[in-house]
Amino acid sequence: MTVLVVGGTGRLGRLLVRSLTAEGERIRVLTRDPAAAGALRAQGVEAVVGDLRDPGAVRRAVAGCAAIVAAASGFGPMGTSSPQNVDRDGNLALFEAARQAGVDQVVLVSMHGAAPDAPLELLRMKYAAEQALIASGVSWTIIRPTAFLETYLDVVAQPMRRRGATLVFGRGDVAVDFVSVTDVAALIRVALRDPGLRGRAIDWGGAEHTLNELSDAIHAAAGRPGPTRHVPLTLLRVASVVARPFSPFASRVTQAAVELYVRPARFDSGPERARHPELPVTSLAAAIAAEWPEGRPLDRRPAS
Ligand SMILES: NC(=O)c1ccc[n+]([C@@H]2O[C@H](COP(=O)([O-])OP(=O)(O)OC[C@H]3O[C@@H](n4cnc5c(N)ncnc54)[C@H](OP(=O)(O)O)[C@@H]3O)[C@@H](O)[C@H]2O)c1
Repeated sequence: MTVLVVGGTGRLGRLLVRSLTAEGERIRVLTRDPAAAGALRAQGVEAVVGDLRDPGAVRRAVAGCAAIVAAASGFGPMGTSSPQNVDRDGNLALFEAARQAGVDQVVLVSMHGAAPDAPLELLRMKYAAEQALIASGVSWTIIRPTAFLETYLDVVAQPMRRRGATLVFGRGDVAVDFVSVTDVAALIRVALRDPGLRGRAIDWGGAEHTLNELSDAIHAAAGRPGPTRHVPLTLLRVASVVARPFSPFASRVTQAAVELYVRPARFDSGPERARHPELPVTSLAAAIAAEWPEGRPLDRRPAS
């Protein structure tokens, strides 16, 4: 059976495609990037070049697939993708194409906190996609991860290469639940195989850390203590409004950073984790070791 991974070139998607391929699954990826498609084909992965916002490309990508993992997001900085046109509308078109093509199962990667009245647009768009999938008639599993540990490690570590200091939004002292992409990919693989997860929405977390803890761990991995630069909360609030007309991405990121302080993302992952004791709980130390195998966040870009 072929599994279509939409978002298969992203941080989570790359890991998922690698692990599913290693387990012998036939994988297809929809990507807008012809170079990424070429690299995937060289690894034996089918690739369809196209945009989730293009119904023809979506139909081509879905044709002949038994299952779909919907793991794209328009939150990021590239192109004209947005939470409305990718996380909501793109996914809606994908689910409709899946229904028409008789796809057996869709696994949607949503987010912890997705709700109709959530403060962040991304969470409202994720909720709309969840509702559309539930109503679609296709067999579904919804996975709602907390914040990705590796994504935030990258955000905190990035400025270190240029300025020698890590970057933390706000005071950095609020505890947030972070989950490793390794743990999310592991749950998606179970969802694709275990019928018991069909019709379930699963909130999936890892462990609580503050951004200051992430920063300290990065400095320790770099082998020397270093300064942490803090962007004051007031500046983030102003930037989220001022940036909106010319950089929707900067506006989205700064608004999300403010939300971490206003509504701390705490979550007890224990009950759901207890259902899957076989799945990994990747620690902060293990995530850092995987991101910077040589222990040098200053010298190397993250591996994935
Ligand atoms: N990052 C987090 O902290 C976090 C937390 C919880 C849940 N999630 C969810 O987990 C999933 C994976 O997140 P991630 O951070 O790994 O993603 P990411 O690295 O930001 O990658 C985004 C992916 O979306 C694809 N994409 C964007 N616009 C597209 C379009 N118009 N058509 C087709 N593909 C498009 C990109 O593909 P191409 O550029 O190749 O076209 C890329 O593969 C997302 O659904 C995200 O919302 C993320």
